[in-house]
Amino acid sequence: MSVVKENAALAALDFVEDGMVLGLGSGSTAEIFIDALGERIAGGLKVSGVPTSKRTAECAIEAGVPLVEPDKVDRINLTVDGADEVDPAFNLIKGGGACLLREKIIAQASDRMIVIVDSLKMVEMLGRFPLPIEVEPFGMALTAEQVFDALKSTGCEEAQTVLRQMKDGSGPLVTDGGNYILDSRCRKIPNPADTALALSQIPGVMEHGLFIDLADVVIVGEADHARVIE
Ligand code: 5RP
Repeated sequence: MSVVKENAALAALDFVEDGMVLGLGSGSTAEIFIDALGERIAGGLKVSGVPTSKRTAECAIEAGVPLVEPDKVDRINLTVDGADEVDPAFNLIKGGGACLLREKIIAQASDRMIVIVDSLKMVEMLGRFPLPIEVEPFGMALTAEQVFDALKSTGCEEAQTVLRQMKDGSGPLVTDGGNYILDSRCRKIPNPADTALALSQIPGVMEHGLFIDLADVVIVGEADHARVIE
């Protein structure tokens, strides 16, 4: 387990209070948080969690975190999730684990979002990490062309897009929602809010991995501590 990810994940526990409904993010850092949360629950903490992916649901069950369906909660008090990149304005790239649609639904419905990352994820400008875009399989080539235009017209330095494949080579990766992922190598995304808006207007784009104005707190894991940025 990565110590820096662990330091970020453990620091997020300080924000959890008894009785909260938590959004449970996806990815390796979020899973460390979920494991640690399970230990607190075993010690008497009373919270429930809304998972953002099937894998997170499995991980939470294993850790002993009680789950609740998203449609059964009035509100989500706090979401704790990882990210692939974070800029100084707390804009994020997410979706490296292909869970961005459900992650964004839960983040958007949360009173507060805490992002847990290691310091390598902190960047001056988003775009080094290829931007994941979740698309409807029907008409995907047409959607990909519109994605290319949207990225170029909002100032992205490049716009090379590839369809994400399963690691075992068995075909395109299919998300929990039954969609495909286009990974767009942009190199630089100078206007993330404009790019987010342009992508969201494309009918075949189910969701994109730019999270704008959603993160409230970023916790950066270092080798021997965690830095909380609010
Ligand atoms: C999944 C995500 C993850 O939060 C992101 O990829 C970071 O993952 P990790 O904590 O494993 O580095 O967005 O869709």
